[in-house]
Amino acid sequence: MRILMIGDVVGSGGRRAVGKLLKDVKTELDIDFVTLQGENLAAGIGLTVDTVVEMVEAGADVITTGNHVWDKREFIDHLDDPHLPVLRPLNYPPETPGRGATDDSGSVAVINLIGRVWVGEFDSPFAVVDDLLAGGFGQGKPVVVDFHAEATSEKAALAWHLDGRVAAVVGTHTHVPTADCKVLPGGTGFVSDLGMVGAVDSILGVETEGSLNRFLSGYRHRMKPVRTGLMNFNSVLIDVDDSTGLATSVERVDRQIEV
Ligand SMILES: [Fe+2]
Ligand SMILES: [Fe+2]
Repeated sequence: MRILMIGDVVGSGGRRAVGKLLKDVKTELDIDFVTLQGENLAAGIGLTVDTVVEMVEAGADVITTGNHVWDKREFIDHLDDPHLPVLRPLNYPPETPGRGATDDSGSVAVINLIGRVWVGEFDSPFAVVDDLLAGGFGQGKPVVVDFHAEATSEKAALAWHLDGRVAAVVGTHTHVPTADCKVLPGGTGFVSDLGMVGAVDSILGVETEGSLNRFLSGYRHRMKPVRTGLMNFNSVLIDVDDSTGLATSVERVDRQIEV
C-alpha cells in the first residue's frame, strides 16, 4: 500500500497545482490513497464545499484540517456531511461539529490531531489518540495521523508515542517541508512537516507584502495567497507493508509547477 500525504494547499494557486499534478503523480508512483491538508484551500483561510469537491475530483481521498478549519463560517455546517471526506482535529471538545478520524473512507484510516505548543488550548492529543486506538479504531487498515502543530518537538514526541501502533505520523501547519523522513524502530513513518502546495515567491503561500508589513508595523495586514506563478507541491510517500499495516519507507515527493 502506497499512501501520499500532501501538505497545506494554499488558495486557488495551490488548488490549481494539485489539479495539474496529482493525477500524474498518483500514476507515476502507483499511489493507492491520498490525504491532503485543506485548512487553507479557500482563499488561504478555511474551506468551502466547492474547494473540497475540487480536491476530491483532483484525487484526494481524505482532507484533513487544522486551526483554520472554522474560518469560512458557512462550512461549519458541512463538517458533519457524510459525503464530504473532511476531518477537523480530533482533540477539540466533543461538542465541536465534525469528526476527527475516519476508518470508513477507503483503504486507509486517518486521524487528524492539533498541537498545543504555540497553537492553542486543546485536549491532549496524546490522550485522545490513545483512547481512540484503544477503542479499536482502524483495525485491519493502516492508520495515518496528520498532526497539525507548530513545534517539531511535539510532533516527534507524538510519533514516538505512537510508534508501532500507526503507519505514519506526519506534521503539518508550518508550510515548510522538513528533511527528516524516517521509519521509527517500531514501524511508524514520520516527518516533522509535509510543507505546502503554494507559491515559491511568497511567505508561507501568501503575498510577501502583507506578511512582511505585519512584522514591520506590528499589526495584522491583509493576507492574500499568491494565485499564479511557480508553485511548490510538497508531499510525502509512505510505503506500508500490507501484512503489518506499518511503514517500510518514507520519502519526500516534492515538485514544482507553473500555474
Ligand atoms: Fe496551513
Ligand atoms: Fe494551521
